[in-house]
Amino acid sequence: MAKRKRNKNRGGSSIPPSDPPIRPHMQSPRRTVPAGIERPPYALTGDPGPSVLPIVRTPDEIEAMRKAGAVAAEVLLHVGEHVAPGITTDKLDALAHEETIRRGAYPSPLNYRGFPKSVCTSVNEVICHGIPDARQLQDGDIINIDVTVFIHGVHGDTSVTFLVGDVDEHSRHLVRETRAALYKGIETVRPGSKVNDIGRAIENHARANDLSVVREFIGHGVGPEFHSALAIPHYFDRRAATEIAENMSFTIEPMLNLGGPELYVWDDDWTAVTADGRRTAQFEHTMVVTSDGVEIMTKTASGTEPAEVFAEVTV
Ligand code: MF3
Ligand code: CO
Ligand code: CO
Repeated sequence: MAKRKRNKNRGGSSIPPSDPPIRPHMQSPRRTVPAGIERPPYALTGDPGPSVLPIVRTPDEIEAMRKAGAVAAEVLLHVGEHVAPGITTDKLDALAHEETIRRGAYPSPLNYRGFPKSVCTSVNEVICHGIPDARQLQDGDIINIDVTVFIHGVHGDTSVTFLVGDVDEHSRHLVRETRAALYKGIETVRPGSKVNDIGRAIENHARANDLSVVREFIGHGVGPEFHSALAIPHYFDRRAATEIAENMSFTIEPMLNLGGPELYVWDDDWTAVTADGRRTAQFEHTMVVTSDGVEIMTKTASGTEPAEVFAEVTV
């Protein structure tokens, strides 16, 4: 039974493209951030420049990342409560923006390389970097909301894929196993492990569940810079042999697909969609390596992870 199901799903041949396809809708005017809020250097120009900082954090930076991670998680929890059929992705962006500045933080995506909004909202076959707009969520959609905030001089970066109303079983499988793949990757992290142990664990989990792994977008060093030099592929890459060391800070953010791994980017230069139109999901955490493992930064002050709160309850 299990074997037949795997064969049936291989390559996604029995899984139809998401229908109708996602199309761009109108964007609202740019939102503003109060003058008193500390901005990352690119906020004015859009240009983050090259990554120049170390990949390990100081104790003060780690404490700041705990706070930034908690703000990001709390904003994501807040926005997630509003996910429902009929709400526009622009409204979700407005909610995230308001909640971020209310907590004294800057919404990191805003003007990062010119990105026009405060979060990324990626629906159905949109892999990542979807721009919030006037499209209303439909019953049966899946949506990744990717929240990054800048506060106390560092970024916290986290995302969850939500189910909107009554979602088909293939999509539920995709979302459930993409979330599991993130934790499979996290479990490998400790001083002395290799960066490519993360991708190996994620790729193995994807393969065992008939899902493909996106290769063009990867996890990254994060801290005072939104994207720093460390690269974390979500597939096994022999060359990603960097040894994990205490106090390294980075994200893991696997994007898994029901169909093939190929993608293209819309001519807005941001929205990445699967080439075959089949659905895709993503989960992301920001973490710092400890003396014997890893600490997840993107959880609330009381330890709640948004991915746990919104995880599908299997009945
Ligand atoms: N949050 C995304 C990540 O996980 C990056 C978004 S860049 C933006 O790395 F400009 F699109 F916001
Ligand atoms: Co990230
Ligand atoms: Co992110």
